[in-house]
Amino acid sequence: MRYITFALGKGRLAEKALEMLESIGITCEEMKDKNSRKLIFVNEELKLKFFLAKAPDVPTYVEYGAADIGIVGKDTILEENRKNYEVLDLGFGKCRMCVCGPASAKELLQHHEMIRVATKYPGIAKDYFYNKKHQTVDIIKLNGSIELAPIVGLSEVIVDIVETGSTLRENGLEVLEEICPLSARMIVNQVSMKMEAERINQIIKDLREKL
Ligand code: PRP
Repeated sequence: MRYITFALGKGRLAEKALEMLESIGITCEEMKDKNSRKLIFVNEELKLKFFLAKAPDVPTYVEYGAADIGIVGKDTILEENRKNYEVLDLGFGKCRMCVCGPASAKELLQHHEMIRVATKYPGIAKDYFYNKKHQTVDIIKLNGSIELAPIVGLSEVIVDIVETGSTLRENGLEVLEEICPLSARMIVNQVSMKMEAERINQIIKDLREKL
């Protein structure tokens, strides 16, 4: 039997993902050692391997078959736009992709003004403004703390994830438009889905029963 490899996105979702896998008997004791610098973990008994990667790299590992299965946020899946099967909404990590800014920016959006949009998700922002809203905007890619952009005058609005909304509130910003709901998803390599159909379908079935 060959190994089935899981790629998990580092960060907020990883812990929940591991908990969920544990609930269906997929465990990896090795991975719980927080001090370990090891990158890949093995469960010999179940013939499974696990690794943690930067979230945007997870769909890449899965598309190339370096991982059979990935667990990652829908935001990353949309942004990376890789050829994988998205097989399951895992129901955790729920949040929304939104256009946010000061209340005063609402008008700029309604009048389709040429504005600057700062975001960690240029692909999602482009798709939303160009293809859905037919509004030409200047998209500025940032790598974090996106809420800063409208505060310091880098952009009029941002496209970012909103979970509780507290980052926005504490910085005098608000949701201006909602782009789409997000949550953690399971993705599968297209070849693995055929070659390892039995084992992978069993995992999907077991997880679905826990939702
Ligand atoms: C995310 C997102 C928002 C915040 C939203 O940032 O970009 O800033 O969380 O959460 P809230 O609605 O509950 O306040 P993250 O903490 O992942 O870091 P980043 O700013 O470096 O992207």
